[in-house]
Amino acid sequence: MGTAPGALPLLGHAATLLRDPLRFIGSLPAHGDLVHVRFGPLRAVVVCDPELSHQVITNERVFDKEGPLWRRAREVEGDGLITTARARHRRRRRMVQPAFHRARMPHYATIMTEVLADETAAWQDGQVVPVSAFALRFTSETTARVMFSESADPEAVAGIRAALPDLVAGVFRRMLSPLNWLPTPANRAFTKARKQLQDSAARLIAGYRAGGERDDMMAVLLAAERDETGTPDDEEMAALVTGLFLAGTETTSASVSWVMHLLAEHPDAQERLRRETESVLGDRVPAYEDLIHLPYTRAVVTEALRLYPPAWLLARVTTSRTTLGGHVLPAGMNVIYSPYLIQRRPRQYPEPDRFDPDRWLSAATGCPGSFLTFGDGARKCAGDTFALTQLMVVAAGLVRRWELRPVPGRRKRPKARAVLHPRHLRLRLNRRGAA
Ligand code: HEM
Repeated sequence: MGTAPGALPLLGHAATLLRDPLRFIGSLPAHGDLVHVRFGPLRAVVVCDPELSHQVITNERVFDKEGPLWRRAREVEGDGLITTARARHRRRRRMVQPAFHRARMPHYATIMTEVLADETAAWQDGQVVPVSAFALRFTSETTARVMFSESADPEAVAGIRAALPDLVAGVFRRMLSPLNWLPTPANRAFTKARKQLQDSAARLIAGYRAGGERDDMMAVLLAAERDETGTPDDEEMAALVTGLFLAGTETTSASVSWVMHLLAEHPDAQERLRRETESVLGDRVPAYEDLIHLPYTRAVVTEALRLYPPAWLLARVTTSRTTLGGHVLPAGMNVIYSPYLIQRRPRQYPEPDRFDPDRWLSAATGCPGSFLTFGDGARKCAGDTFALTQLMVVAAGLVRRWELRPVPGRRKRPKARAVLHPRHLRLRLNRRGAA
């Protein structure tokens, strides 16, 4: 087992991680399959091998969501689905699962195409668009419309959406820092946003419990709650709603931005995708049933998710002494897995930094653990199909109408915090067929 070099006496590797997270993480495989790091007082092992990462995330009995990292993450979500420990996970997963049933996807895809049409309606030929802002509006509006139908309390939905940026900004910093009680502006903004989100979620839930029949994700969640326990639990429901918003909007919006960035940087791929959508869709907007006939579009999206997995750093804690890759880990050890690190290993992906959608069109499948963008095992992303659908709808829907062009300027660098985003991305949109 190796140790990452460059630890400072008190901070350990925290400063290096915050300064240039991707370079730091990318440097670790040179020190072994399991590498020791330290963030302040917190010691952890980073898993640098796909099969070992797979072993970690599919054995949730030994590698659980416990310890200070997850306790701090629960401050954000409440004890919902994503951050909860194994003991309370199963029931919550069963409650959420029906909301993501395949049979509901065509309805969700229709909402996604409607939101895309609304969000792009005002675009002018040749306009420069700030991509991250567009992507976040698109995914948060989609999530809001999918979860809460028109009749729901719009003020409370707006409250949830407004709280998200400060919460998401706070997650990563708070998980690494023990100084969350300090009244800094960032900590105050975080506390305020969390209260706003909890209050808005509580208001929405109360409205739903009092109201009539609806056909949206919230109604499916409440029906599942009745089946599971029969007893309404507002706090648990608020944590589930918060978690779905947190898990669903920032991650997918980062991926929407990356897909747009990669298409703009690779005009050949963009043209191939356009030709595919033209031959399959003609003049229609994409529907869920079309997506299976768009293999190249799917390959572009998957390649973007490989190169830039939004959830790029995730953690577990050992519940008992165990061995991993022949090394003994004591109970209570923090174990980190990184889809970003794994998906850039050359043994799994030759020329790993190259954008090459064709690698997904051949029949060969990777070893277990080689694609971890959505995690794996019992804690695998509940919204993976939802997210893929959203990304394919955006890629196909945009490229049919618009040519995406890079805007000359600063080199685009990823910003890695809780979520991996492109920094300051702006693109020029030329309307196809414009004179
Ligand atoms: C590109 C978009 C997305 C990415 C990259 C992503 C990634 C992930 C990952 C890596 C995990 C596992 C975390 C772990 O192992 O600790 C996860 C869990 C989860 N995700 Fe996603 N996600 C995305 C979109 C969504 C969407 C759209 C939703 C819902 C609307 C969602 C809901 C969830 C939930 C509920 C969990 C917790 C599952 C459990 O513990 O049972 N995600 N996601």
